[in-house]
Amino acid sequence: MDILRFLGIFLVLCGLYATQTEAVCGYESCHETKPNMINIHLVPHSHDDVGWQKTVDQYFYGHRNNIHHGGVQYIISTVIEELVKNPDRRFIQVEMSFFSMWWAQQSEVTKNIVKKLVDEGRFQFTNGAWSMNDEANVNYQSVIDQFTLGLKFLDDNFGACGRPTIGWQVDPFGHSREQASIFAQFGYDGEFFSRMDHNDKDRRLRDLAMEMIWHASESLSDLKLFTGLTYRHYSSPDGFCFDVNCGDDPIVDGQSYDNNVKSRIDDFLSYASTVAGAFRSNHIMITMGGDFQYEDAAHNFKNMDKLVKYINERQSSGSQYNIVYSTPACYLNAVHKSGLSFPNKTLDFFPFASDSNSFWTGYFSSRTTQKRFERVGNHILQVAKELSVFANLPAEQQKVNLNRLRSIMGVMQHHDAITGTEKQAVSNDYDRLMYDGILGATETSAFALQKLTNLPNGEFQTCLNLNISECAFTKDNADNLVVTLYNPLAHTTKQYVRLPVKNENYQVTDDKGRVVASELVPVSQQIIDLEFRETDTQYELVFKATVDKIANYYVKKVEGQSAAQPIKAVKSVSGETREDGETVVQTSTIKLTIDNKSGLLKTVEMNGVSENIVQSYGVYRTWDSGAYLFRQYHQGDFVIQDGDVEFTVYEGDLVKEVHQKFSDYVSQVIRIYEDRETIEFDWQVGPIPRETDFGNEVVITFTSEIESEGVVFTDANGREMIRREKDKREGFTPELDRQPTAGNYYPITSRIALQDSKKRMAVLNDRAQGGTSMQDGQIELMLHRRLVRDDNKGVGEVLNEEKYGQPLIARGKVHLVLSPADESTSAERHWVKEHHLPLWAFFSKNAGSTSSPAKSLPSFDDFPNSVHLLTLEPFNDDEVLLRLENYLDHTEGKVVSLNIRPLFDYLNGVEIRETTLDGNLPLSQMKRFKFHAEGSGPIASEPEYYTASHTPLAADYSQEASDFVVTLKPMQIRTFIVKFK
Ligand SMILES: *[C@@H]1O[C@H](CO)[C@@H](O)[C@H](O)[C@H]1NC(C)=O
Ligand SMILES: *[C@@H]1O[C@H](CO)[C@@H](O)[C@H](O)[C@H]1NC(C)=O
Ligand SMILES: *[C@@H]1O[C@H](CO)[C@@H](O)[C@H](O)[C@H]1NC(C)=O
Ligand SMILES: [Zn+2]
Repeated sequence: MDILRFLGIFLVLCGLYATQTEAVCGYESCHETKPNMINIHLVPHSHDDVGWQKTVDQYFYGHRNNIHHGGVQYIISTVIEELVKNPDRRFIQVEMSFFSMWWAQQSEVTKNIVKKLVDEGRFQFTNGAWSMNDEANVNYQSVIDQFTLGLKFLDDNFGACGRPTIGWQVDPFGHSREQASIFAQFGYDGEFFSRMDHNDKDRRLRDLAMEMIWHASESLSDLKLFTGLTYRHYSSPDGFCFDVNCGDDPIVDGQSYDNNVKSRIDDFLSYASTVAGAFRSNHIMITMGGDFQYEDAAHNFKNMDKLVKYINERQSSGSQYNIVYSTPACYLNAVHKSGLSFPNKTLDFFPFASDSNSFWTGYFSSRTTQKRFERVGNHILQVAKELSVFANLPAEQQKVNLNRLRSIMGVMQHHDAITGTEKQAVSNDYDRLMYDGILGATETSAFALQKLTNLPNGEFQTCLNLNISECAFTKDNADNLVVTLYNPLAHTTKQYVRLPVKNENYQVTDDKGRVVASELVPVSQQIIDLEFRETDTQYELVFKATVDKIANYYVKKVEGQSAAQPIKAVKSVSGETREDGETVVQTSTIKLTIDNKSGLLKTVEMNGVSENIVQSYGVYRTWDSGAYLFRQYHQGDFVIQDGDVEFTVYEGDLVKEVHQKFSDYVSQVIRIYEDRETIEFDWQVGPIPRETDFGNEVVITFTSEIESEGVVFTDANGREMIRREKDKREGFTPELDRQPTAGNYYPITSRIALQDSKKRMAVLNDRAQGGTSMQDGQIELMLHRRLVRDDNKGVGEVLNEEKYGQPLIARGKVHLVLSPADESTSAERHWVKEHHLPLWAFFSKNAGSTSSPAKSLPSFDDFPNSVHLLTLEPFNDDEVLLRLENYLDHTEGKVVSLNIRPLFDYLNGVEIRETTLDGNLPLSQMKRFKFHAEGSGPIASEPEYYTASHTPLAADYSQEASDFVVTLKPMQIRTFIVKFK
């Protein structure tokens, strides 16, 4: 170390210690405010996207600044240097993916400096997740996971002072109730964000309703969260961007001829007075920062110091303004102490409209294959985590692999990742990282399966392209193959498995050597025609598997008639042969009719009800839609195809399929399986044609005669359902005359449904999509978009994905469930769970091994039906993280109990403790702000708090089994850490 640097560090350290008073973090470290003044909370922050115009690494290193200026490593370093210089200064650090990269590169000396700053509340972690996640397209499981990852990093490195208490979701394009529910379950005190429908915001500014109490769950009444909208986005006030990359004037003081202190302070206070007029308390928060700001933090802090100095100086001449360096947590603490009431909020903040012609509803569907790939990443992550625990894998076989996939999954939740609002090169980089992460997780899974099955040398290969019937391993080894199926859900499941194979005779047997019915089904012509497929497999072998946690099925080639025969087309209708009449396709539980003339599905009969449901595809021809916005040019530019569909029916014993071709770029297979009460629509869309001036956005439509009266139900992040009324919002009137459809689009991440007094129709999807019901009885989901213009919201690129040298072709599945309206919707929940985490198939050559597994697996079948194993994963070297969820809501389910002693014993548990949802805070220590709701009686004289609504479970192995009973209310999730021997 050279002497100058040493001296520098020495001085810095002296500065730090000299200014140190008694170390306190949290609310006690907040600066004093003045009760009879307007207190301005200056909140320095940097908004650092985890990939957007550049990749994550490019933003971290400040590489390729020609694309977009941003270098997070410099931001954090210079902020730390500046914080050290003045103990009054504050800064919040939000994105843990960037912070952890930076942390890994620091010396012990620097780390100690940062720890001090954290311990003194000067450098505060806020939000604390790996990324600032999107709220429309994400699934709650992945949100919880990415917060768990960030908060664990903080706990490991900083302990209690590192724990955030505030949700900071300032950039996402609309806000979900489930996100608020998750924050409440972490024990957070409140959340802040910046984007809201402009009419809603105008109304709230007038009504002093910028801050509210969000009722975040219809099932769990104590999940209420203080929620605040920042006054002016998350940037600094106009004219006060002191960043090195901004052009605003510095504050010039002293003897300078250019001294501008008076006018600058006048301007700032005039802004502050406007803000103060829109909030209830005598505290206001003024954000100071923006995208990738603070790269040379001296500029920012030097000028903010002057703001503080000169504003407070005016108090001696009667000014009523007091300004302090602050953080969202310190601001909220002051608001909490103020003892005021706030209005309620019960629905959510979708869709987000920034003006009457700009509804941010395109991103619900942008980059559809990336949205699906993200779901695959979650699927294998859950599989690999559970398997690592069951096999008790040593750290070297799971830690690095799991952490890599956990991190990239955290990155994928970011509001420019799963949203599809990043540049193409960035999307490719996300794919690369995901692919790496998935490979690692399959390697870890294979290590575990070698211990948990009778195949100690099994390959346990996986195939990611089963969606195009491509798997070289099954095709080449189907003569003698073992299929190992892993069920990530708690309860035994029966699912159909499909394997790409050659046109041969195969026999499938189970673990006990019993023959399992199977049949060969032809792959659709549209798949066979895909030029980029690397195999030419034309058949899939289908069989039904029953799996508790793990099951092996054996496939081998046989001669003779007893084996599977390809099922043959029984009917084929194309252009010339059209006649009136209908074609019936049915299993023992579902009956479909196809209209011979149009080729479209016409009626559905199942679950004891029958309904006319015409299913088709529609196209929006749009002019200036973009990655963020769905924007129609004029409303006539939407056509639903009403005929001309060629179809072929294949009837097997296990499965019936209708292969339909709608156009050169839209086709599907309607599929019904014996004994399965859902109808599968296996769609393929692309290459979408494009005109010079118009893009096309393709939707799948289901048109029934159900009298839904403008009401549709959509899920929030895969959990609770929200009732939507067409053209209506909670508490304000939206402006829909220019964009009536885009303004009625909602994010659908698992389910959309409508009903009347008799029947209910639900459509379940396999990835996030935008959807709506524009006519009673009709549901649509947007599947794929190909556009011609950028919508000027930042990405700076046209959404026009190409792959393999042609416009992107996308495939996916939606499922239809028709049922009586008075029945519980719990069956839909069940299907949603199964589509979210289906069986994962691993493949090995059958080497004839018969050794018994090195370790057995527990069964979860005695859990109540509605209880789901939400998480089971390695946490610390001697601890696992367990989450149990009652996934039925208050209309569907009831309070259930189960005893987890058997699981605890299986895990060799010595101790178990209950934590907040993220796994990092003992639930017994949870104490979060409670705010008074307007219209709910007198205000308490002292600040109020929520604590755990039940007695947290805490036990050790010496205790009675009865101490291990877990009770779960509808929708409740409980989180435990099990310490094992
Ligand atoms: C139309 O449907 C009827 C009833 O299923 C069937 O018998 C007939 O063969 C179909 N006609 C044509 C031309 O496909
Ligand atoms: C098939 O699935 C993989 C993995 O999710 C995905 O990357 C790919 O885009 C999908 N292919 C199509 C045609 O949708
Ligand atoms: C807000 O919700 C509370 C329940 O938390 C209720 O008591 C109160 O009446 C509601 N306020 C209004 C104005 O509806
Ligand atoms: Zn952002």
